[in-house]
Amino acid sequence: MTAEPVWTSVDEYIADLFRLRDSVLEDALRRCRQAGLPAIEVSVAQGALLEVLVRATAAKRVIEIGTLGGFSAICLARGLPSDGVLISLEIDPHHAAIARMNLADAGLADRVEVVEGPALDSLARLLGEECGPFDLVFIDGDKQSYVAYLQAVLPLCREGTMIVADNVVQEGAVLDPEAADPTVQGVRHFNAAIAIDPRLRGTVIQTVGLKGHDGMALVVVSGND
Ligand code: SAH
Ligand code: DHB
Ligand code: MG
Repeated sequence: MTAEPVWTSVDEYIADLFRLRDSVLEDALRRCRQAGLPAIEVSVAQGALLEVLVRATAAKRVIEIGTLGGFSAICLARGLPSDGVLISLEIDPHHAAIARMNLADAGLADRVEVVEGPALDSLARLLGEECGPFDLVFIDGDKQSYVAYLQAVLPLCREGTMIVADNVVQEGAVLDPEAADPTVQGVRHFNAAIAIDPRLRGTVIQTVGLKGHDGMALVVVSGND
């Protein structure tokens, strides 16, 4: 038997201390597991970070790419004021259906719209309908498309919009330029695209915890100077 890594214990310490694991989140996770959805949500501590970022930016309009069962959507929506809006994009109708149930049970259905379909199509429609600008964007869909998501959301952003992206470290696999895994190449290209874009200022924080070793990109859209 291997010892539990210390960061797993620290994640539990944080969740306990800040009382992050409430019954709404527990119920949502239980429904996700019963419905057979993969356990790839953000952790409760990362979910609390998302809520904090929504509050800190005073965001009222948020886009999420990749809803799964709505766990991170609940966290993002909890940071919104009552007239705030989260539009969450999900390709899988089963995931979207579970997410809608979780959001309704969380009492957040009034401020979250789960939009079914390929996210790039939905983003093009949002742009066509002049639905922007958005104050915060959370990118957490398929990793191969991260660069395309970045380019598609930028026209929906304003100066000051915060862009957050999950899973950009991949247990350090991003260090390898020759990586064969398209997920790893997807996030490598995404990180490089942020780094070279004069409209963006950002960094990556590494994350360790219950979900292993990964990272979140934290980016602000700014002017060109
Ligand atoms: N944000 C969620 C986890 C998302 S997992 C949370 O932390 O709770 C990634 C999700 O992206 C999956 O549900 C998957 O179905 C969805 N996805 C994959 N490709 C997509 C696409 N092209 N458009 C929209 N969603 C996509
Ligand atoms: C995985 C984790 C994620 O946070 C995600 O968005 C997609 C996949 C994973 O561990 O496979
Ligand atoms: Mg993720």
